[in-house]
Amino acid sequence: MRTNYCGAINTRYLDQTVTLYGWVHRRRDHGGVIFIDLRDREGLVQIVCDPDNENTFHTAERIRNEYVLKITGKVRPRPEGTVNLVLVSGEIEVLVKSIEILNPSLTPPFLMDDDNLSESIRLEHRYLDLRRPVMQANLRLRHRVAMAVRIFLDQQGFIDVETPILTKSTPEGARDYLVPSRVNEGHFFALPQSPQLFKQLLMVSGFDRYYQISRCFRDEDLRADRQPEFTQIDIETSFLTEDEIMALMEEMIRHLFSTIQNVDLPNPFPRLTHAEAMHNYGSDKPDLRIPLVLTELTDVMKEVPFKVFREAAEKPNGRVAALRIPKGGELSRKEIDDFTSFVAIYGAKGLAYIKINSIEKGIEGLQSPILKFLPEKTIKTILTRTEAEDGDLIFFGADNAKIVNDALGALRVKIGHEQGHAESGWKPLWVIGFPMFERDEEENRWQALHHPFTSPADGHEDLLETDPGKALSKAYDMVLNGSEIGGGSVRIHRQEIQSKVFRALNIADEEAQEKFGFLLNALQYGAPPHGGIAFGLDRIITLMAGVDSIRDVIAFPKTQRAQCLLTHAPNSVDEKQLRELHIRLRKTEISKD
Ligand code: AMO
Ligand code: AMP
Repeated sequence: MRTNYCGAINTRYLDQTVTLYGWVHRRRDHGGVIFIDLRDREGLVQIVCDPDNENTFHTAERIRNEYVLKITGKVRPRPEGTVNLVLVSGEIEVLVKSIEILNPSLTPPFLMDDDNLSESIRLEHRYLDLRRPVMQANLRLRHRVAMAVRIFLDQQGFIDVETPILTKSTPEGARDYLVPSRVNEGHFFALPQSPQLFKQLLMVSGFDRYYQISRCFRDEDLRADRQPEFTQIDIETSFLTEDEIMALMEEMIRHLFSTIQNVDLPNPFPRLTHAEAMHNYGSDKPDLRIPLVLTELTDVMKEVPFKVFREAAEKPNGRVAALRIPKGGELSRKEIDDFTSFVAIYGAKGLAYIKINSIEKGIEGLQSPILKFLPEKTIKTILTRTEAEDGDLIFFGADNAKIVNDALGALRVKIGHEQGHAESGWKPLWVIGFPMFERDEEENRWQALHHPFTSPADGHEDLLETDPGKALSKAYDMVLNGSEIGGGSVRIHRQEIQSKVFRALNIADEEAQEKFGFLLNALQYGAPPHGGIAFGLDRIITLMAGVDSIRDVIAFPKTQRAQCLLTHAPNSVDEKQLRELHIRLRKTEISKD
């Protein structure tokens, strides 16, 4: 029987005989004596195999990394000078009495304490990667957060209800993962992009407070903070206003950070409207650790000779804005060129700048390729509005507002972090006052900015028909350190408003009936006013763990190409299975797995 976890033995156990199970982290043969670092989920302990004990010594000689052992031995103090205070067990060692090899191991493809591993090798051998202490810590952090969430929500009267995975499309803006039905030829289930419609139905059913830690599936372009299947803390309540929902949700996040991270987040969280966020930070998820802000210049560029700025300022959806970088005058030509290539990713056609050598000297004290195209008065306005000081550099963006915001917003974050402008710590906020719709220029129609079940703001119902672009919603996003960790809204609970929104989105009555008839029907049977939110659990853990990639907090994640390198999913299936599912592939040549 095991008496202790390896990593949890300390001087309290001196002179006791312990029985341990674990993996060989390292074996060191010091001529006479063999040392084994034995590892389990709690950490390492040093095992000493003395040659006097011939039996165990012979076994120890055969042992290699990652063998699984059962060891019995006596706890004794480490000799002076060999104490390792980093480990819980760093003041003791275990002198072996018996060793049993429970299972040998092939030579592992990497050492468990190597921090410099290629991600593809880690993902191919994920079961070994997850043995590494960092990964163990990440997943245990995830467990603790999930537990704390459940306890908090339970105490607040939330009821955990499971909703279907084989279901019908829930529009959240991504493509669906489809599952063919064998028994219903030509029909498909969609995996849920979120439990959105079911949680609304549960409010109609009178559960009042629902939650679920639920898996969601979205076939979208992947990034460092996105996975095709991810986990939401999904929440819905009845009869609460936006403010009440936001207050409760803030409390949950504050509770998580104080109990798990020992961090006190502000109370209340600051709030920014969507318009303010775009205006000041060029982003709807601003990283408030970075004090840099954009300066509006559209109004003063309408008549300048510089064509690039003038044309952008004159466009109905155009914007000219500046980003002042304190001490940016030290940036080299090469660095400025690199930033210019960086903003090009977001569609910016250039990155004009002015270096401020000396304000006192007026135009003479400035350095820039665009000075000659700007009237002196305009240059003065730029300097005043940006509050420029000697040694600064001002970047400019001019284009339609989306490109300027994306480009300068991303540049702000990049320079903020790279050039040491970012504060440390945690900066949460709410973004509120979102528009109901955004324009899909390609398809020339309105799209729901959140999802089409979001309620318009009070008094904005009529705008749905008269001026949809101006209608604001009752949606809110929670942002933490530049990451959107949650989003939700008060929903539409009256069928006629829901129909108006579908009409604004150009969804015909029949189509709405066919896709969401069950919801429209339910809304007519006494649906209570309701609203909720969903948090990205993976993103919250990514931030708490301080890792760069969401994949480091998911046990078995997919790559950026939406593949699992461990199981080789997705893979091709045989003809018989396809036939049963009534499916014929369009491509005759089926690629190998
Ligand atoms: P939304 O689409 O904003 O809202 O999703 C809620 C939160 O889920 C996280 N998230 C993701 N995390 C990892 N990978 C992804 N691909 C991914 N997509 C989203 C984000 C996001 O804030 N039904 C609504 C919620 C509601 O209105 O109540 C919804 O799903 O952190
Ligand atoms: P040009 O006259 O095209 O050589 O541009 C002069 C300066 O303006 C260069 O520094 C360009 O990088 C910059 N520039 C060009 N287009 C834009 C734009 N759309 N937004 C910001 N700067 C630009």
